Amino acid sequence: MNNAVLKEIQGRTGILTINRPDAMNALNDEVMNGLTAGLDEFENNESIHCVIISGSEKAFAAGADIAAMRNYEYIDVYRDNFISRNWERLKTFRKPTIAAVAGYALGGGCEVAMMCDMVFAADNAKFSLPEIKIGTLPGAGATQRLPRAVGKALAMDLCFTGRMLSASEALQFGLVSRVYPKADLMAETLAQARDIAAYSLPALMMMKESLSRSFETPLNEGLAFERKMLYATFALEDRKEGMNAFIEKRPASFRNR
Ligand code: HXC
Repeated sequence: MNNAVLKEIQGRTGILTINRPDAMNALNDEVMNGLTAGLDEFENNESIHCVIISGSEKAFAAGADIAAMRNYEYIDVYRDNFISRNWERLKTFRKPTIAAVAGYALGGGCEVAMMCDMVFAADNAKFSLPEIKIGTLPGAGATQRLPRAVGKALAMDLCFTGRMLSASEALQFGLVSRVYPKADLMAETLAQARDIAAYSLPALMMMKESLSRSFETPLNEGLAFERKMLYATFALEDRKEGMNAFIEKRPASFRNR
């Protein structure tokens, strides 16, 4: 971990907060290495069931760090495996993740949010892919994830123009699933994370694996994978406990096994 990313644990929820207030939380190596290290730690910590990625009230993140990138040549980014080397840990993270977005989520900031399983926004959140204005393209996943999230027409519109989307538009088009007043965003996100984290961790992980497949496979293969995961839940003690608790009219007590 480092100062550019703050780590906190509340109950079974791990929180990683991007912390570069002087640069609108622009994403440099320090931030991306910090996020990767925090996710590694939370993945290995059995008591963590859900992770929140957040920024400040002003900016979730205003994109990749332009000052760091401006003098890069092709050979630098190719040789050093720019983006691929430290931006994609969220892609392989196996527990549920929530991006809590207030303020600007621009370029790479929007892309990091889209790598999370859920995006909750404050009412002051602003999303955009402004890379066209600096002569490049959204290269941390948005050309693929944005059309899947909001459809082709809006994705092309946003990327070709670089225009900002408000929180309510983002909700309307399915880029985020909830919008809260700015002052309530973290408390509401934590409350939701706490509820999710009370469920069976292996059931959550199997569910995430199955849902994530839907972006990668044809329908029939995805359905076959889902069915295998469903059958796998029948090997869980927690599945027995959940069903028994329902029939016995008592709260379930999951042991994450
Ligand atoms: C480096 C950044 C930055 C960024 C802001 N800052 N965004 N530094 N990289 N992406 C710095 C500013 O230079 C400034 O530093 C300080 O943060 C405050 O920003 P201001 O511009 O003064 O604030 P404001 O006028 O309120 O405007 C906020 C803003 C604007 C709308 C967010 O900063 C902006 O448009 N930022 C750039 C957004 C962008 O193009 N992002 C995409 C990057 S490319 P000083 O030292 O002057 O105080 C990308 C994808 C790359 O993300 C490809 C794959 C990842």
